[in-house]
This record gives sequence, C-alpha cells and structure tokens, in this order.
Amino acid sequence: MNFEYLLARTELLFGEGVLENIGDKVSKIGSKSLLVTGKTSMSRLGFLDKTEGVLKKAGMEVVRYGGVEPNPTVGTVNRGAKLALEHNCDVVVGLGGGSAMDTAKAIAVLTGHWKDGVTSIWSFSSLSEEKKVVTSRTLPIVAITSTSGTGSHVTKYAVFTNDKTLAKPGIGSEFMYPRLSVVDLDIVSTMPPVVTATTGFDVLAHAMESIISTACNPISQLYALEAIRMVYKYLGRAYTKGDDREAREKMALADTYAGWAIAVSPPELPHAMSHPISGYYPDISHGMALAIVTPGVICLNIEKGHADILKKYSLIAQNMGKSVSASHTKEDALQAVRAVKELRKRVDLDTTLSKLGVTEDKIQDIAGDVLTRNRGAWKNNPVRADRKEIGELLRQCY
Ligand code: NZQ
Ligand code: MN
Repeated sequence: MNFEYLLARTELLFGEGVLENIGDKVSKIGSKSLLVTGKTSMSRLGFLDKTEGVLKKAGMEVVRYGGVEPNPTVGTVNRGAKLALEHNCDVVVGLGGGSAMDTAKAIAVLTGHWKDGVTSIWSFSSLSEEKKVVTSRTLPIVAITSTSGTGSHVTKYAVFTNDKTLAKPGIGSEFMYPRLSVVDLDIVSTMPPVVTATTGFDVLAHAMESIISTACNPISQLYALEAIRMVYKYLGRAYTKGDDREAREKMALADTYAGWAIAVSPPELPHAMSHPISGYYPDISHGMALAIVTPGVICLNIEKGHADILKKYSLIAQNMGKSVSASHTKEDALQAVRAVKELRKRVDLDTTLSKLGVTEDKIQDIAGDVLTRNRGAWKNNPVRADRKEIGELLRQCY
C-alpha cells in the first residue's frame, strides 16, 4: 500500500466560547484583518461585533467585508480582494458558513498574488486560460465556522461560481489551509433546523465519498468512519432539538473529522453533481443538492463496482446502524442506500430537483458540467459514469 499524507499546519480551537481566545493568536499572524462574513446571521446574532471586538482588543485593525451570498461568486471574491488591498490587510478572517470561509480563503489567495497582475480569482481555476498556481504569497487565513458542514475550516479548498457561465469549480492548495481554525459551539448551535440538516448531510457526504473515492487512504478512512457514526447518531437530534449541546458538539466534531478526510481524500461523484446544481440554481444549497443525488450514485457504484466497493459500502452501512454479513454482499452494501435515505427523511431532505425549481432542460447541462467543469471530483469516483448515465441519475431524482 502506497500513499501520501500531508499534515496541515492548522491550529484548531474547539469548544464553547473559544472565539474569546483568538485575539492573541490572530495578532501574531497579522496586524490588519479583513473580516469576511455572510449576509445577516453573524451580525444579527452578535458574533460579528464580538469577533471584531476580540481582534481590536488584541491591538488589531479590522476591515469588514459582509454580504457574502450562499454559493459565492467570483465577483464577490474579487471585490473583497480589492478592499483588502486598499486597506493593506495582512490576514483574512472568515466568519460564517462554507460560503464566507471559502470567500475569505479565495480573497487571501487573490490579494497575495495581485502584484503579479492577477485581478480575478478565476485565473486560479483549472477552467481558466491562465491556470495560475497558488503560491506561498497567499495571505494567512483564519476560519471561524458557523455551520457544521463543509469542513472548510480545516480543508485547503474554496469553491466559487463564475458570474457569467455559472460554472462552480473549486481550487485547492496547501497554502490555503487556514492557519487558525475556530469551532465555537456557541456559534454553530445557532443554526436553524434547515441549515443544520443540509450542512449535516454535507458532513455525511464528505465522510462517505472520501471512503469510496479512489483517493481514499487508511488514515482518512479512520476519520471518515467516525464522522459517519456521529452523523448517524447526532444529526437527527441536532435537527429536532437545536439546543442539544451534546449533539451540536458531536456534529461539529464530525464536520472537522470529515473535513480532514476530504482534505487528503477528495470527494467523488455526488459532489461533482451537486456543484453544477448549485451553480445554476444558487438557491439550492450544497447540502440539499447532495441529499438529492447521493442515493442514486451509491446504487450505481454498487451495481457496477467490484468487491472492494461492496465492502466499503457495507462498512458505511454498519456505521449507520445496519447489520451486515461478514461476506459484504451486494445486499449488505445496499443497506447503505437505505440508511442514507432513512436519515435524509428524518431531517426532511427527501425532495426532488423539480420541486426545487430545476427545469428539465437543465439536466443535460448539469450532466455535461459534471464531466467538464467538475471533472476532478467525477474522476475520483471508482466507477466511470458517462454523460448518459449521469443524465439518467439526475432524471431519477427529478
Ligand atoms: O449569509 P448568512 O446570513 O450568514 O446565512 C447563512 C446562509 O443563509 C446561514 N447560516 C450560516 N451559519 C448560520 C446561519 N444562520 C444562522 N446561524 C448560523 N450559525 O446558512 C446559510 C448557508 O450558509 P453557507 O455558508 O452557504 O452554507 P455552508 O456552510 O453549507 O457552505 C456552503 C458552501 O461551501 C462550499 C459549498 O460548495 C458552498 O459554496 N463547500 C466548501 C468546501 C471546502 N471549502 O472545503 C467543501 C464543501 O464540499 C463545499 O463544496
Ligand atoms: Mn461538500
């Protein structure tokens, strides 16, 4: 067995009220921060003021950049980088869900490379003509997560949508690992049920896909299996009873474990399918898109996959409370589909593309994007699915 494993230089602060403790740490990284956040939640709940206060108390200057939309666009990143440059910011702090954290990461990249004449984050996408490479000039990143979902606080990725073409690719680099990652349970506990459910499903998807991914390795699999166990046990509780602190803590931990898993063993087909869905329809959240497409992909992989895949899905099913035989048959593996569908129903995510407003004519575009614009994740799937098969999978969840 051969594999590589990069241990990121990310300092993780995890627990109740840990936001209070970031001042000294961030002020050692930089002196002027761009504080990036989403639309309203963090200011409404007081965490934006609190973060700014903690940083200022440590002697830092703070420039706010708010209004980041779910499924952020290239334009949002570029405008943020301009602001960071105007104010000479030397550290970028993301406070919010994956959208705010990814925007912060992408702003850190673009700001750091501006002197090279790069003025759009798109230049770093593998879909661009330039194909710029992210280097150590990237500004240091601090990620304070407000959701338990994307793992962005511990991953090297940022995902953004092209304003014109609506392609939604990701970029990733070892220089994009946050220097400081903050999981404050007081913040994530404020998620409303629907955000808890969709982001929680994202955790499950990361954990499962990193195991099934051709990039799986034994270390990421350890994290992923534990994350699956926790999502299975605690997501329903966090969804129905938002003040269940134990459930919130376990989901935050599962998010972190699954983030570590995808950081080295990136996701596969469900993620490749979910990105164009949210690219064309930004109102469909990332987690919701995953909840819709995941069962179909599992079925396809079981139908066409070899013994190793059946074994992995059996293991996943086992960690979601199903009893499976020692021989890991197709029937055992299919228990994973049942388990995922049951959990999806428990948190009210069993919907369809048509109910969410996807028009039938868009299915071909989405299927096409999987093989072109989101090819990286498509490639990680152990079973090669062609455009026709992907179109078929999408029609099944229409
Ligand atoms: O914008 P605000 O007002 O903050 O509201 C947000 C938004 O409407 C709200 N929210 C977030 N935390 C809250 C809260 N409301 C109340 N209390 C809180 N504590 O929830 C809504 C969704 O937020 P968003 O950040 O969009 O959600 P999520 O965390 O799921 O992030 C999704 C983005 O991350 C990318 C996705 O593609 C998508 O663009 N991902 C990033 C990854 C990475 N960097 O490694 C990996 C993932 O696979 C994913 O692709
Ligand atoms: Mn995801």
